[in-house]
Amino acid sequence: MQTLTITQPDDWHLHVRTGDMLKTVINHTARQCARAIIMPNLQPPVTNVEQAFHYQQEIQQATESQYDFTPLMVLYLTNETSPEDVKKAAEADFVQAFKLYPAGATTNSAQGVTDLQALFPTIAAMEKYDVPLLIHGEVTDADIDIFDRERLFIETKLSLLQKTFPNLRIVLEHVTTKDAVDFVMSASDKIAATITPQHLLYNRNAILVGGIKPHYYCLPILKRETHRLALVEAATSGNSKFFLGTDSAPHLSHLKENSCGCAGCYSAYATIELYAEVFDQANSLDKLEGFASFYGADFYQLPRNNKIITLEKIDWQVPAHYAVAEQQLTPLKAGETLHWKLKV
Ligand code: DOR
Ligand code: ZN
Repeated sequence: MQTLTITQPDDWHLHVRTGDMLKTVINHTARQCARAIIMPNLQPPVTNVEQAFHYQQEIQQATESQYDFTPLMVLYLTNETSPEDVKKAAEADFVQAFKLYPAGATTNSAQGVTDLQALFPTIAAMEKYDVPLLIHGEVTDADIDIFDRERLFIETKLSLLQKTFPNLRIVLEHVTTKDAVDFVMSASDKIAATITPQHLLYNRNAILVGGIKPHYYCLPILKRETHRLALVEAATSGNSKFFLGTDSAPHLSHLKENSCGCAGCYSAYATIELYAEVFDQANSLDKLEGFASFYGADFYQLPRNNKIITLEKIDWQVPAHYAVAEQQLTPLKAGETLHWKLKV
């Protein structure tokens, strides 16, 4: 049987929620990953060090003791976040970064930032204390086409941020376009990007052809095939600016199969297996370890993991649902066959 042994991966972009949902999804990630960057878009959001401390404790309590897993905490930027808040975050070793959600861009972003330039003193403090800024890179203007939102964010906002704060470490999260890939490649080594499994596996036809398929709906929305190909090339190139971040974003099945369905794909149940699928298809399995296990840690200036994992090339069927207390969570590729399996 074909096997692949690599250093244990980390997930540099993950939503785990709270309560029953947290109890289900965190153990899927902890089975596979040593660490994960935990997104702060709860309701209410995680905006300060104290809240992040309590949220980290809740996550640790929900994680089964057999796993050696560390949640890395992130604070949610609001219009009120001050340079003093940044200093406190820099001093808290369990806080890794701030997350910028333009207000209205996605799930639970209502308390996000409405005027980026008004926040420049706070962002200057991130540059000064070397705290990374993680960005949901989409403009939110109602008259801008949803398929153009990432490109326009890069042209109008990210370019300015990069020029104003050349030493600020930035992760452009869940890139979905060739425009984003080109921008990150030509930027300084302070700028990196995460790429999700769904944006590597699918183009926008997955959502819209043969009926509306809500489990492929996430934000930024899937784009056309030329963009997917650019993402696959970036991920499998061995370029250390691109690393694993699933953006696994669980919503109960009935809230996605809905007349106003939530955005987010649930992929954490098979983090490394889904990426292995992509890298295998691209004949680039030799590049998976750098993408999944090295480049993110290096960018965050954290040690690389010591443990190893082994994947076996063997078919297995993804469950139709996972249980969340009495309710259901539908995974990406529900009921389909995956070809790589984590050996336990
Ligand atoms: O599809 C998404 N879901 N994109 C995001 O940016 C947020 C996430 C969520 O929290 O559900
Ligand atoms: Zn996200």
